[in-house]
Order: sequence, then C-alpha cells, then structure tokens
Amino acid sequence: MREELPPEGPPHFEIRVLPDPAEAAIAAARELVSACSDSLADHGVFRPAFSGGSTPRLFFDALAGAAFRSLVAWSRARIFFVDERCVPPDDERSNYRLAKEHLLDPLGVPAENVFRMRGEEEPRRAADEYETLLRREFARTNHLPQFDYVLLGLGPDGHTASLFPGTRAVEETHRNVVENYVPKLEEWRLTLTLPVLNAARRAVFLVLGEEKRDVLAAVLRSERGSADLPASHVRPPRGSLVWIVDESAAAGI
Ligand code: 6PG
Repeated sequence: MREELPPEGPPHFEIRVLPDPAEAAIAAARELVSACSDSLADHGVFRPAFSGGSTPRLFFDALAGAAFRSLVAWSRARIFFVDERCVPPDDERSNYRLAKEHLLDPLGVPAENVFRMRGEEEPRRAADEYETLLRREFARTNHLPQFDYVLLGLGPDGHTASLFPGTRAVEETHRNVVENYVPKLEEWRLTLTLPVLNAARRAVFLVLGEEKRDVLAAVLRSERGSADLPASHVRPPRGSLVWIVDESAAAGI
C-alpha cells in the first residue's frame, strides 16, 4: 500500500503492509540488498546501522539465510549500531549480541567490519567514543554520519532507537551519539540522535504485531511529528522513509 506524504516529507515515503512477520522481515531484507548495491555503486562501501529489541531477530535470520546470504557483499560493509543497552557485549540484553548471534557470526562477517557501541563502558565515555569513531568514519560528509540503511523499530510508547518520550536525547541536535537515562526503565542507553537518523539515505521501520497497532497509527497520523512520539520525527528530508509492517500492526491505519 503506498501513501503520499505532504510535500515537506521525505522525497520517498512508503508504507508496505505484508501478511505476516516473516514476510515483513524478508521485505526489510530486500530493501537492504537494494540499499547495499546502490551504495557500492555510488561510494564503494555500504554502511548500515541496526537497532535492537526483539524485532530485528527475524530480519537478521532472513539475511543470514540461504535466500539472501549471497546477495549482500558483507566484505564491503561497515556495520554500525543505532543504539545499545549499557551492558557487556555478551549480556542477553545486548543489541550487539543479538546481531552477532543472528547475523555476524552466521555470515562470518570480519570483526574489523563491525563497530559496536561499548555498552560496558561508563555511558558518557561510551557515547563520546562512538561519536569520535563516527566523526572519523564520516569525515567526508562534514562529520554528520550518513548511513546507507538504518533499521528502526517502534516501541509501544512511540520511542525509536533509544529516543524515549520526554527524555533529553530526543531534543539533542549537536551530538550524534548520546547517553540517555530512561527513568521508566531505570537504565542508561546509548543512542544515535534525530539529526543522524534524518541524515540517513534509507530509514526503514520494521514494525510487527497487534501491540503496535495504535502507536503505529498515531505516528503515521502525526503529519508534522508529535512531541510525545519520537518516532514521528524520523523523516529524512533527502532520503527515503519506508515503513514495513505486518497486517496485525497495520490494522489501525
Ligand atoms: C532497543 C531498540 C528499540 C526497539 C523498540 C521496539 O534497543 O530496544 O532499538 O528502539 O526498536 O523498543 O522493540 P521490539 O522490536 O522488541 O518491539
């Protein structure tokens, strides 16, 4: 299903509704394959950034599966993360661990191609380290990271990445990566900020399940972005924004 956004939205905006989670994960994987070939043709390297949570597991499994594993030149990819929990890399809550177990190890992606957020570090220090790493990596784009593909999820409260409603990180416009204390979780997170998400060439939301129905409808209804729905502020002005959702999540739109 294709919807047109008001002219000030991203040049390419799309909502794709798939029958079930597996099909939606495959659609997000196909989008990555196309982003990879475009990026390699345009600038010789592919830089995706992945979120965490539970939803990416299906997506990673699809990419590591027989149908997709030969379609992406992972040796020419430099893999980054959208956010991280402040835990060690082997902790079950670690977004890096999820990617490692379901994508990086099965595909044998070389460790030197993977740039994780160091959740085990003191939060401010970890955020500054990743900021420095990104500024070096994207020196050519005036130090504003321009990822080729950003995979995002949607929380029931309208958060995306670790940009939770009412938290400081949502307002951040100077730093690319911040430590963010989330009172309702009583924990620190590391997260890319909105300017970085909006600099992406392709921002892809993968949203599954009935529990996301109301928040998805609210985010898509908020034409100019709503203060209490951080995900509604992701609108790359020069990139593409694709919402890939399953029928259960789409029931309210
Ligand atoms: C995280 C994520 C977060 C996630 C949403 C949705 O680290 O938790 O980056 O933004 O995408 O919370 O989570 P689910 O996929 O588990 O529904």
